[in-house]
Amino acid sequence: MKIFTSPEQMGEWSNARHREGKTIALVPTMGCLHDGHLSLIDKAKEYADLVIVSIFVNPMQFGPGEDLDAYPRQLEIDCSLIKSRGADLIFAPAETDIYDSSFQTCISITKLASGLCGANRPGHFDGVATVVTKLFNITRPDFAVFGQKDFQQLAIITQLVKDLNIPLQVIGSPIVRETDGLAMSSRNKYLVGEERQTALCLSQSIARAKELVRDLAVPQDVTEIIVEVKTIIAASGATVEYAEIVDRKTLVSQQQIDSNSIIVVAAKIGGHVRLIDNSILQ
Ligand code: PAJ
Repeated sequence: MKIFTSPEQMGEWSNARHREGKTIALVPTMGCLHDGHLSLIDKAKEYADLVIVSIFVNPMQFGPGEDLDAYPRQLEIDCSLIKSRGADLIFAPAETDIYDSSFQTCISITKLASGLCGANRPGHFDGVATVVTKLFNITRPDFAVFGQKDFQQLAIITQLVKDLNIPLQVIGSPIVRETDGLAMSSRNKYLVGEERQTALCLSQSIARAKELVRDLAVPQDVTEIIVEVKTIIAASGATVEYAEIVDRKTLVSQQQIDSNSIIVVAAKIGGHVRLIDNSILQ
């Protein structure tokens, strides 16, 4: 399994594979891989001849007081997981390979980044958009695969690729969950003791919302559903950051459910672990 750290070497490899007529898919990650990440490799293999997985904990997308230093890192384990899942190459640059001392450019997305996680994590999506653009330019993929778990991120990257005419196709891949419904996340590692059980409030509140959508009279008013979702999360002892029903393309809050509705929730568990989840409603 090849591991590149140098952007130049990475770009040369991709150019050589393209000259051979091969297609390439990129799976960008921050490491500490779980089955959710690994499912993106499977999805990437459906589209391209070769799969690159990037591992880079991107300081630009962490705000002050967030968990950049504590973010779990396990490069060796990640490499063996990637190898056994059948990817072709790992790109794992150092921070200085991505941001040298003269770095000063920022890609900023306006409307799609303004609400939800963007409202609660100022600058976060600028950091994501900037690093992902750099990863695209370095690895030169034909396809890039992102998880639907980070629904706002997927919408933003899709828009970014369209807006900047980046020559690749963005692929979304379904959320992978633990058997009890908790969406897999690198941050689940922070959950201690009863917090693991409390964290189920996200998927459980979403399941209840789906039940209500099925059972309530039409036309459906979202207020009632959101009140119930927030009550379930609060009753478990977690703190709701947001719970909204939005249009899956524009991410604008909706008052009525339609075929584009998606429910998105974020909550803090035990005052320290911020988790997100979502589901299409119909
Ligand atoms: P990270 O949180 O490591 O996630 C990498 C990719 O894995 C993202 O596309 C994310 O949506 C996907 N993913 C995470 N949990 C998942 C799950 N349970 N099921 C399916 N997919 C899942 O997202 C980032 O890193 C960064 O912001 C990045 C895009 C790499 C830019 O730094």
